[in-house]
Amino acid sequence: MARVKHEGQWYGLDEGESVLDGLLRRGVAVPHSCRAGACQSCLMRAERGEVPAKAQVGLKETLKARGYFLACACQPDSELEVAGAGADLRVSARIASLERLSDSVLRVRLRPEGRFEYRAGQYVSLLRADGLARSYSLASQPHEDLLELHVRRISGGLMSGWLFDEAGPGEPVVLQGPAGDCFYVPGRPEQPLLLAGTGTGLAPLYGIARDALAQGHTGPIWLFHGAVDASGLYLVDELRALQSQYPQLQYRPCVLKGQERVGVWVGALDALIKEACPRPAGWRALLCGNPDLVLSLRKKLFLAGLSLKEIHADAFLPSTPPPQAGTGVTTSASDTSR
Ligand SMILES: Cc1cc2nc3c(=O)[nH]c(=O)nc-3n(C[C@H](O)[C@H](O)[C@H](O)COP(=O)(O)OP(=O)(O)OC[C@H]3O[C@@H](n4cnc5c(N)ncnc54)[C@H](O)[C@@H]3O)c2cc1C
Ligand code: FES
Repeated sequence: MARVKHEGQWYGLDEGESVLDGLLRRGVAVPHSCRAGACQSCLMRAERGEVPAKAQVGLKETLKARGYFLACACQPDSELEVAGAGADLRVSARIASLERLSDSVLRVRLRPEGRFEYRAGQYVSLLRADGLARSYSLASQPHEDLLELHVRRISGGLMSGWLFDEAGPGEPVVLQGPAGDCFYVPGRPEQPLLLAGTGTGLAPLYGIARDALAQGHTGPIWLFHGAVDASGLYLVDELRALQSQYPQLQYRPCVLKGQERVGVWVGALDALIKEACPRPAGWRALLCGNPDLVLSLRKKLFLAGLSLKEIHADAFLPSTPPPQAGTGVTTSASDTSR
C-alpha cells in the first residue's frame, strides 16, 4: 500500500489517491486550488522516495532537481516522505493598494518583503494567512517596485470575495512561484506577436505587451481582449494611449454582445482574430483566461499554421474542492507509524 510521511507522521493512501487528497482527507493543511496540475499551488518537496514522472509535468528543471512535485498529480507506488514548499519558493508580501478597474475587476498591488524574480506574464500562487491559495497572473513588469494582479470577482469566491470586501492595505500574504511560460522572449524583435485573452486574461497580456515594447520589440503586437459585454472591458483608455505611443501595438477590445461603437469590435473573439490575423504562421501566440477559449484558440491557431512550439497558454482553471473536504479526520492507527 502506498503511504506518505509528512512532519513525522505516516498516512496511508487509498488506491489511486493523490498525495494531496490523502493528506487533506486526514486534516493536513496543504495549499491547493485546481487539483488538476495547472496552478502549482500544491507544490511539495520529496525528501525520500520516488516521485512518479507525471507529478512533475510542467515544472521547471530547477524545481524538479530540488525534488518538487505537484501533490495533486502524485499517486506514488510505494513510500514517499514529503515536506511543504520551502522558503526558496516563497516570499512574504503585503497588500499595498486595492483599486477597482471595473465593477468586477480589482487591481491588487503587492509589495514583496524580499527578492522576488519573475517575468511579466508569469503567475504566482497567492496564499492568505489561513493557507487559502489561488493563482494570479502578473500584470506588472519586473523593474516595478510593486507586483500587480487583476482579480475578477467570482460569486461566492473565497479569495476574490475576501480581496474585494475585506482585505485592506497592509494585509500580509505570501507569494509562491513564479510559474508559467507566457512571457516575452527577446531575440526576435520583428516577430509578430498575437496576445489574446478573456476577462482578467488581460492581466498577463498587459504585462507582456508593455514588457515587449520596453525591450524594443518592433514587429506587430496584436492584443485582443474579449469580454461578454462592455462592462467586462477594462484598462481601455490606458491601452489606447499605449497604442498611440507605439504604432506597432494593435489593441482590439471585443465584446460578444452589444452595440457597435467606435473602437470596440462586436463578435466572437476567435472569428475576430481570424479576420485580423488570417495567416499567423511564424508568429508567437500567448493565450490566457477562460480554459475553453484558450484550448479552442490554441487548436485554431495551430490549424491556421502556427507552430505549437510558438503557442503558450495559461488557462485560468478554477478551484475544485477535494472529494472529502472538511471531514477533519485524524490519522487512524492502521495507517500511521513513526
Ligand atoms: C494559472 C492561473 C492563473 C490565473 N490568473 C488569474 C488572474 O490573473 N486573475 C483572476 O481573476 N483569476 C485568475 N485565475 C483564477 C484564480 O486562481 C481563482 O480560481 C479565481 O480568482 C477564483 O477564486 P475564488 O477563491 O475567488 O473562488 P473559489 O472559492 O475558488 O470559487 C467559488 C466557486 O466558483 C467556481 N468558479 C471559480 N472560478 C470560476 C470561473 N472563472 N467561472 C465559473 N466558476 C468559477 C468554483 O469552482 C467554485 O465552485 C488563475 C488561475 C490559474 C490556474
Ligand atoms: S496544480 Fe495541484 S492544486 Fe493546482
